[in-house]
Amino acid sequence: MPTALITGASAGIGRSFAESLARRGYDLILVARSTARVEALARELATRHGVACDAWTADVSSDAGRESVADRIVALPRLDLLINNAGFATTGKLAKTALEPQMEMLRLHVLAPMRLCRAALPQMIAHGAGGIINVSSIAGFVYGPGNVNYSATKAYLTSFTRGLDTELVRTGVRVQALCPGFTHTEIHDEMLQVKQQIPSWLWMQSGDVVEISLGQLERGGPVVCIPGMKNRLMMAVLQLIPHALRRRMAVRGKRTK
Ligand SMILES: NC(=O)c1ccc[n+]([C@@H]2O[C@H](COP(=O)([O-])OP(=O)(O)OC[C@H]3O[C@@H](n4cnc5c(N)ncnc54)[C@H](OP(=O)(O)O)[C@@H]3O)[C@@H](O)[C@H]2O)c1
Repeated sequence: MPTALITGASAGIGRSFAESLARRGYDLILVARSTARVEALARELATRHGVACDAWTADVSSDAGRESVADRIVALPRLDLLINNAGFATTGKLAKTALEPQMEMLRLHVLAPMRLCRAALPQMIAHGAGGIINVSSIAGFVYGPGNVNYSATKAYLTSFTRGLDTELVRTGVRVQALCPGFTHTEIHDEMLQVKQQIPSWLWMQSGDVVEISLGQLERGGPVVCIPGMKNRLMMAVLQLIPHALRRRMAVRGKRTK
């Protein structure tokens, strides 16, 4: 059976990846900080789908947690799919927010995916097969007051994945930067006010996002995956707008205190 490792598997998009891959017959290593939640999910998926499911408690924003997952990857006889999904969001202007969550965000969205890709790639290349999905965001294509680090870390992740794609030509290894738009998950629980400002027609379900992502990877589709026609259209239009105008729109549109 193929094996997949998912970070941030206990909730939201990561959990949907776990459910979808278990249905496809993958053995799973589910990584998150909350032991009880990943263990319960591992038991549930193993029972329901007859796959081997291992829960791995780790905070991949810490050096120790990140290295424990990297060591686990290197020790595997074979890893078919790595999904760097763990992430979180903050709100507030950089000068006024607490420093530590911003530092943590860089370690989680930038350092961890790079480190785990570095751990997984040599074996995948040696096997001539494998896939990596880095869960980025459409936020990586935009900027504005209130979440500058979130957008910047996701821009890194998309650019990093595009670069990897060029390095992996003819290796048999596929990579994808998954750039979802607004998706119903727990990430928005702390930002209900922000959530209420987003029109309902823009939201997607995490299961739909995951099916589009896996389908595109399986087909060998484009390296950047933006699920949903509305999201793709918005991003296409955005690229046509000059930066000076985008800056004015961002400042006017978001009056974050
Ligand atoms: N939802 C959206 O609208 C949206 C849009 C675009 C991109 N994304 C991206 O999608 C990814 C998943 O987010 P989500 O929306 O599914 O959020 P979520 O429901 O809050 O799930 C986040 C997952 O990440 C895990 N996690 C957080 N910090 C971690 C850490 N330091 N180490 C290990 N695991 C950690 C959480 O589990 P524990 O708390 O147990 O560790 C949880 O399983 C993120 O990278 C996010 O930026 C989300």
